[in-house]
Amino acid sequence: MERSGLDTANTHAELEAMRARIAELEATLEAAQGPREVGEALLETSLDGVVILENDGAIRSSNATFRELSGYTEAELATRNVFDLAGSHEEAELRLERARKSGNARGTVSLRRADGTTVQVEVTLVYRTNAGGRFFIFVRDISSRLASEEHQTQLAHFSRLNTIGEMASGIAHELNQPLSAIVNYTSGALRRLADSAAVDAELIGALKSAAEQARRAGVIIRRMRNFVRHGDRTTVPTSINEIVRETVEFTQAHALQLGVQVDVIELDADDTAVVDPIQIEQVLLNLIRNGLDAMKDPGIETRHMAIEVSRSDGFINVSVADTGCGIAPGAPQDVFAPFVTTKPDGVGLGLSISRSIIETHGGRLWCEPRPETGTQFLFTLPT
Ligand SMILES: Nc1ncnc2c1ncn2[C@@H]1O[C@H](COP(=O)(O)OP(=O)(O)OP(=O)(O)O)[C@@H](O)[C@H]1O
Ligand SMILES: [Mg+2]
Repeated sequence: MERSGLDTANTHAELEAMRARIAELEATLEAAQGPREVGEALLETSLDGVVILENDGAIRSSNATFRELSGYTEAELATRNVFDLAGSHEEAELRLERARKSGNARGTVSLRRADGTTVQVEVTLVYRTNAGGRFFIFVRDISSRLASEEHQTQLAHFSRLNTIGEMASGIAHELNQPLSAIVNYTSGALRRLADSAAVDAELIGALKSAAEQARRAGVIIRRMRNFVRHGDRTTVPTSINEIVRETVEFTQAHALQLGVQVDVIELDADDTAVVDPIQIEQVLLNLIRNGLDAMKDPGIETRHMAIEVSRSDGFINVSVADTGCGIAPGAPQDVFAPFVTTKPDGVGLGLSISRSIIETHGGRLWCEPRPETGTQFLFTLPT
């Protein structure tokens, strides 16, 4: 037999049942007339099911735990053999044979109950050669243990799926921006090529930008892979002014197209923060794109975007404000929640990814409505 029921009993009901059994055992031992009766008393009150078989598998006797587990009465068991109770006849045969040969056998089998249901049990068989051969079988119900193991496996599986899912959306989202930039730049280059009056330097500039965006796409994938392997980021002391400058330059064509005037106020002091520059650029890009999208509507008269880098105690603050449609106060959905979008081609992940990026950097990202019209998004980065 394995461990006693003591270290596996975990509910109040199980403990109560065990106390009752111990009291019963004490009473039986008290009245026992010698070692044989003591042995029988021990078997009868054991917390493991015990069943004793004749050499041919006929059930000779059983204890209370086994009768409870199988749902049969003592009289019903007296007319049955082990094969009536085994989930599989062949398997039962095999285990009996093994015990006959080596003296014992053990394993997990299914037990068919009186009500027709089956239960997974762990069995230990001991074979004694006296009296024409006899099997002692100790049976333990392991269905609740199996269920909890199954539950654990499922939980682990779901949490892995979740992580992979989030990561896949993240990769798709981050790749979308540089890749659409590649398409824009190269199609611009092609248009210029078709126009013989085009200046060569412009053409070269556009192609260089395309190459730069392709390189960025590669860096993002590499970072993602590193993230999967080590879960770390590549942080370096970075000029936040510079990140803003680069991102604004990158979105200039789009702003111009929409007739949006973009003003930048850089920080006139130490603007260094230890960050992953590509990730912070992704955040800014998404905030600028969202701001520009919010000013698309032809009904909007003033199209103005103000980006400001400032400094407060221990933090560098970046604000991106627009004069767009704004977010209705008390909007039904939190714009930072994943998959919340009002755009026909939107994924709705930009703000949720941006917030998690800023938070893993130890900062905060939030938004505020502007007094007149539009929205202001702000984030902080510790210096
Ligand atoms: N500056 C803004 N002004 C008004 N509404 C905004 C602004 N920024 C975000 N929103 C609202 O929040 C929603 C979610 O933005 P988010 O960046 O998470 O996703 P998205 O821009 O719709 O799609 P994508 O995943 O491609 O970025 C937007 O669809 C929009 O309705
Ligand atoms: Mg967005």
